[in-house]
Amino acid sequence: MTEEIGTIISTLEGPSPGKVSFVVTSGIMNRGQFVEIDYSQGRLVGLVVDVFKTNKYFERAESVKEFESSGKKLFEQFPVSEWEYLVAETKPMGVYTNDGKIIRHSFPPSPGDKVRVASSETIEKFLGFDKNGVHLGEINFHGTIVKPNLSRLLKKHLAILAMSGAGKSTAVKTIIEEVLDRKKENGRLAVVVIDVHGEYTCFGEPATKPGEVDYTKKTFIIRSHEIKIGVPKLNVGLVSSIVSGLSSPQKRELERILNSLKSEMKQGAGPFDLNRVEAVISQDKSINDATSRILLSWISSLKDLDLFGKTDSPSVFDVLRPGHLTVFDLSDEINLKKKQIIVSYFTQRFFFERKNGAIPPFLLVIEESHQFAPQEAKEEYAISRRIIETIAREGRKFGACLCLVSQRPINLSTTALSQCNSNIILRVTNPYDLKHIGESSEGIDSKSLEMITTLAVGEALLVGEAVNHPVFFRVRKNKCPESKHEISLEQAARVFEEKKENLNKEALQFL
Ligand SMILES: Nc1ncnc2c1ncn2[C@@H]1O[C@H](COP(=O)(O)OP(=O)(O)OP(=O)(O)O)[C@@H](O)[C@H]1O
Ligand SMILES: [Mg+2]
Repeated sequence: MTEEIGTIISTLEGPSPGKVSFVVTSGIMNRGQFVEIDYSQGRLVGLVVDVFKTNKYFERAESVKEFESSGKKLFEQFPVSEWEYLVAETKPMGVYTNDGKIIRHSFPPSPGDKVRVASSETIEKFLGFDKNGVHLGEINFHGTIVKPNLSRLLKKHLAILAMSGAGKSTAVKTIIEEVLDRKKENGRLAVVVIDVHGEYTCFGEPATKPGEVDYTKKTFIIRSHEIKIGVPKLNVGLVSSIVSGLSSPQKRELERILNSLKSEMKQGAGPFDLNRVEAVISQDKSINDATSRILLSWISSLKDLDLFGKTDSPSVFDVLRPGHLTVFDLSDEINLKKKQIIVSYFTQRFFFERKNGAIPPFLLVIEESHQFAPQEAKEEYAISRRIIETIAREGRKFGACLCLVSQRPINLSTTALSQCNSNIILRVTNPYDLKHIGESSEGIDSKSLEMITTLAVGEALLVGEAVNHPVFFRVRKNKCPESKHEISLEQAARVFEEKKENLNKEALQFL
């Protein structure tokens, strides 16, 4: 049994099933701590949602002012410190019964009942953690390990939301490490990250410092210039999502040409690229001139993207392997349309092959997901939105899990976000984003929303399917080597100047 910390008091509003206040009789109590109270069927578990101090001597403003304006101090004349009390406002969450079940409570405990700090065992059972789960971090003040079950956390998708610099990528890396460290018998997923800022390439770096873990053998880093979409894999559906405004006759002609090239390929002609499609269209006299011109201009715009080849690179089958990570490092790419095409194409391929059972269940992490599934943008500026929404709706049936990461949840497709049944929310202060999070995430009350604004870097709220009740915790430190991405402003400025000086020196040699 844990230490006794306080006694329930009678207030205007409680104790009630929804609110219990207690005076702290020994030690201190912090907002976010769990407590337990003996209850008829077992233990009533509560979360401290607020703590405040009271002191009778300082209740009346006019008396305090009157007394102290005479030059005397209250604390010198009266035993004021003996009259200071710490009161904790608690939200009862349910009963952990003597036979290990969790049931709802419908009546309050009594004034005078004793309150204890909840034990880690009670918290783990009450929140529904799993000994083989995903070690995300620790609950502040308790040291209880936050270990939600893998399926509960990811199967119905996860959203990680916070303002810039609050610790989103650190939280994602923690999850990736956990997935990569899993044993085969516990079930291993393949992981793919759409990495917009090169924050995950550190998984491909050898460990150099004590405590770091080397993930190089389990990681494939694909740079944006290495990525190619195999033209024989293109279909009219994907093409029309890339090139807006193709009419039905134009789509029909294109489909006919792609199909004839695909059947030539099957007969041994080998894979074809855009040059070949272009040549066939130019030579095909059965296509009318206007259609031919439009299709050729379409091909020319696709060629400008320098993204299409004879085969896919990387091959979906090579990279999606259980317990392995593939990072699509798009940090060198500035063309958003090209990035959306990459995400759209590969995501469709992953989902299709997963439905066929040709690749393992996977976790697809999309950083800056509001760029890839924007809420407001027109179809032609949101090429990847449709497939992300499709996986959000249907993925769970096939073991295709999404982890959407965003610092602008208000700009993220509500269809996709609302399908993310688990949320990790770190510090958010923007009132619009906060309101949006409150509306889109069930189980967050106004007190929790208020606490989100005061979180420190690396502190988070886990809410939704993954846990029986929302819980605030500190995300654990990463094990992978430190990201080169995180250099200081001073360092970045020095690198720039040194580079410039070297360039100048080189130029002088040729004068
Ligand atoms: N759980 C944590 N423990 C310790 N430090 C952390 C933690 N989370 C984040 N940090 C610190 O904060 C920095 C920023 O974190 P991170 O890159 O994860 O934030 P982010 O939300 O992904 O930022 P951005 O929006 O810029 O991508 C990290 O480099 C690290 O120093
Ligand atoms: Mg980040």
